[in-house]
Amino acid sequence: MRQFPPDFLWGVATSAYQIEGATTVDGRGESIWDRFAATPGKINDKSDGSVACEHYRRWPEDIELMRWMGLKSYRFSIAWPRILPTGRGQVNTAGVDFYSKLVDSLLGAGIEPFVTLYHWDLPQVLEDQGGWPARATGDAFVEYADVMSRALGDRVKRWITHNEPWCISVLGYGNGEHAPGHKDWSKALAASHQLLLSHGKSVQVIRSNVKNAEVGITLNLTPGEPASPSPEDADACRDFDGGFNRWFLEPLYGRGYPMDVVEDHVKAGRIPNAKLDFIQEGDLKTIAEPTDFLGVNYYSRAVLRSNRIPEEKNAPRTVFVNPAKTDMDWEVYPKGLTKLLVHLEKEYKPGPIYITENGCAYSTGLSADGRVHDTQRVDYLRTHLEACADAIGQGVNLAGYFAWSLLDNFEWAYGYEKRFGLVYVDYATQQRTPKDSAHLYRDVVAQNGLDVEQAA
Ligand code: FCB
Repeated sequence: MRQFPPDFLWGVATSAYQIEGATTVDGRGESIWDRFAATPGKINDKSDGSVACEHYRRWPEDIELMRWMGLKSYRFSIAWPRILPTGRGQVNTAGVDFYSKLVDSLLGAGIEPFVTLYHWDLPQVLEDQGGWPARATGDAFVEYADVMSRALGDRVKRWITHNEPWCISVLGYGNGEHAPGHKDWSKALAASHQLLLSHGKSVQVIRSNVKNAEVGITLNLTPGEPASPSPEDADACRDFDGGFNRWFLEPLYGRGYPMDVVEDHVKAGRIPNAKLDFIQEGDLKTIAEPTDFLGVNYYSRAVLRSNRIPEEKNAPRTVFVNPAKTDMDWEVYPKGLTKLLVHLEKEYKPGPIYITENGCAYSTGLSADGRVHDTQRVDYLRTHLEACADAIGQGVNLAGYFAWSLLDNFEWAYGYEKRFGLVYVDYATQQRTPKDSAHLYRDVVAQNGLDVEQAA
């Protein structure tokens, strides 16, 4: 048995747009994901989040599922357009009431709410006024953080400001794969700065509103590994790690932006020059406001091969990608999680770390016996939990683990094609069926540990 620390926080994670549905109900305003999904060609299966898992109505059933799993915590996000349909100003009480009721019921079920303020559903009006590249959007976010931390702060102690600023800025403003769909790297860099800045400002605001608050940010971190010992592959790896990981970690931990990344962008012609004129006096200090924890979303690693020299001139590969891939085509590589956590602990000393997301997409459906035998997810979960235990064994202050996700849900640009849930959702009937992985997770939580003999 691999035992976890006594107060380890076991949970699952979801986000508002991916599960709630009810996008036009009770005064909710339009979000950039409503607009993006309605734009032809943006979502693979032409779907949107208007129905999703109907969590807005079925939440008591979903809390029941979490209670059955014995979870200690639930990470969910708040839909900003339900709270402030016009982005700032007038608060929509019906929106606040929805989350307030959810929080009360979670606490009643013995499940601690862990709130993410921004999981990608920006009010469309704010996008129309410039979106995340605009400083004013960050100010609006701080007002929203103020409203929510006042409303729920008597009951919610753990707060995540932003989920994955890399995805928001690069996919949303750089390559256009996500809402709002811009393809402009200058905008992407400006967006990343306003996200980090609004994070730092709202940490201060949440702390002043919530007694004993713990506030942090969630980053999607992907460790890179060079495919060979060649200097070219080492440079490709530096480049990847810079844009993906260091661009966010370094300023958050007080080291400012890594300038090699800016040079890469200039060299690649993605931005015209190295002037980061969106940075104002004092911004870097605000971004580095100390946090109470770091949220880490881990799915896979990246193996980097240089494209600057022809393949035959490069050194032979020594690092090979595991052929086992999830339905996202992401390599299954649990060791990367241990390595990442050990690296973060050593390099940044972030205090407690929570795995705020980890999971995999596999399409396994219902069997004749009425169950969902998602053996690949069971393996993924086991091996990644072992990787967490290894990291703890190596001195990492890992305080909790949140499986992505409670339910199959709307997987952004892929629509409903990708199923990440521990619980299967039949979208025609909205019936929920816990998969084998949910049963495994239930056992893990009950034992506060992983039965390794059983795995062998
Ligand atoms: C992360 C997102 C989450 C989900 C998973 C698969 O990037 O935070 O909403 O889509 O990937």
